[in-house]
Amino acid sequence: MAKMGTSSRVAAAIVAVLGFVLSLAVVCNGGKTSSFVRKVEKTVDMPLDSDVFKVPPGYNAPQQVHITQGDQLGKAVIVSWVTVEEPGSNTVLYWSAYSKKQKSEGKVTTYKFYNYTSGYIHHTTIRNLKFNTKYYYVVGIGHTERQFWFITPPEVGPDVPYTFGLIGDLGQSFDSNKTLTHYELNPQKGQAVLFVGDLSYADTYPNHDNVRWDTWGRFTERSVAYQPWIWTAGNHEIDFAPEIDETKPFKPYTHRYHVPYKASGSTAPFWYSIKRASAYIIVLSSYSAYGKYTPQYKWLEQELPKVNRSETPWLIVLMHSPWYNSYNYHYMEGETMRVMYEPWFVKYKVDVVFAGHVHAYERSERISNVAYNIVNGICIPVKDQSAPVYITIGDGGNLEGLATNMTEPQPAYSAYREASFGHATFDIKNRTHAYYGWHRNQDGYAVTADSMWFFNRYYHPVDDSTSAQ
Ligand SMILES: *[C@@H]1O[C@H](CO)[C@@H](O)[C@H](O)[C@H]1NC(C)=O
Ligand SMILES: *[C@@H]1O[C@H](CO)[C@@H](O)[C@H](O)[C@H]1NC(C)=O
Ligand SMILES: *[C@@H]1O[C@H](CO)[C@@H](O)[C@H](O)[C@H]1NC(C)=O
Ligand SMILES: *[C@@H]1O[C@H](CO)[C@@H](O)[C@H](O)[C@H]1NC(C)=O
Ligand SMILES: *[C@@H]1O[C@H](CO)[C@@H](O)[C@H](O)[C@H]1NC(C)=O
Ligand SMILES: [Fe+2]
Repeated sequence: MAKMGTSSRVAAAIVAVLGFVLSLAVVCNGGKTSSFVRKVEKTVDMPLDSDVFKVPPGYNAPQQVHITQGDQLGKAVIVSWVTVEEPGSNTVLYWSAYSKKQKSEGKVTTYKFYNYTSGYIHHTTIRNLKFNTKYYYVVGIGHTERQFWFITPPEVGPDVPYTFGLIGDLGQSFDSNKTLTHYELNPQKGQAVLFVGDLSYADTYPNHDNVRWDTWGRFTERSVAYQPWIWTAGNHEIDFAPEIDETKPFKPYTHRYHVPYKASGSTAPFWYSIKRASAYIIVLSSYSAYGKYTPQYKWLEQELPKVNRSETPWLIVLMHSPWYNSYNYHYMEGETMRVMYEPWFVKYKVDVVFAGHVHAYERSERISNVAYNIVNGICIPVKDQSAPVYITIGDGGNLEGLATNMTEPQPAYSAYREASFGHATFDIKNRTHAYYGWHRNQDGYAVTADSMWFFNRYYHPVDDSTSAQ
């Protein structure tokens, strides 16, 4: 071996050390894996006779009352409820302090699943509501009437503050009830819930016992009868069970939960968009075809250019299966969809992507992995200020328990991860700033375990990373 001069030896050493540091940075300079230690308890479903599942008294009383946005702008609301004894009325009676009582008519449907027959499921859309107004509404006209209320969102505009709650993979365990209670008692008051999929987990019961869809509807009524939950379909909504001759995917979900998909030009209820206050929310389906030429692909291709950031600065995407997930659960299940759509998310500067599926919490840095083209070897996620932050919030508390096994070391793109149940809020202040906070169920209602100030990617695209620079 040829002799090296002192200076070239030093240079070589520096290069070697630098190379080592760089490779460390690439491989394992991860964010924070929380050291929070929780009591490990089994996650069990609340028994059928639990207080939260109580059937409201009275003949043919409406139960499982729930609302969601009913158009693209927030001037309509879909009101849904179930009656058991007979179909009863489809009428919703509604009024505000400034308007007299009005009526809206809807439709009733039923379905069968194996040996289960549903109650009478009513869906009525109320239209032409005034923005930012409290409405009272009554269902069950003619038999047992029940009254609820909701507040319509402010008119769509760039500086309209609005607070979204985030819940995923809720189920109906004692932990699910804690998550919902923490959401309700969070002083950061959520005005609408962005629900990232996996609702009742009825499909984990023998023959997908659809009674557990009914109990879930009664359990969640205390929130969703008063504020809209924006629905995303998860794998537990598929209910595909050829062994009992149930081969039509999403049958219970589509009968029970309606969404305003036609208003955004979608041809199926699994992908659609809404505007609400200063946010444009795109809901995607991990369990519908998303490859090139498919209906979902064509819809999204036309949808993204329609987003007018001067009108709705905040571009939020919901899906069930996460693209970036460093837990050893559902690992890389979102990868095929990421390959299809991630270049669009970077191009159109999506602010944040919320997903569920993994029963834990994780927040990423702004990263993308769009350079790879099979042959160039550029296959590691890199920091990218045009890319969204990816948040996994599948920690609602369902009976399947927590995902605790993480890939090691924590990848560089993962900013924070923790296996605890909880919920989050996304609190839009104006066109440039939004405060995001994640709450674990073991803490007091006001405690934020992980938080971040989001800087809008269109109006304020400066680095909002929480890691040391
Ligand atoms: C449906 O079938 C299961 C078992 O085959 C049985 O336990 C259950 O009681 C049945 N339910 C109804 C509503 O008939
Ligand atoms: C669910 O939570 C509510 C509100 O905290 C409480 O009143 C109720 O007793 C809880 N039910 C169960 C079964 O844990
Ligand atoms: C985008 O929204 C702004 C604010 O509402 C409006 O002035 C502008 O005309 C819109 N642009 C397009 C292309 O529709
Ligand atoms: C965690 O997951 C990895 C990869 O699937 C597996 O090899 C390992 O045994 C798991 N660890 C535990 C404690 O379950
Ligand atoms: C937007 O909100 C942030 C956070 O509350 C605040 O610091 C900033 O001044 C606001 N911007 C404007 C233009 O009001
Ligand atoms: Fe899931």
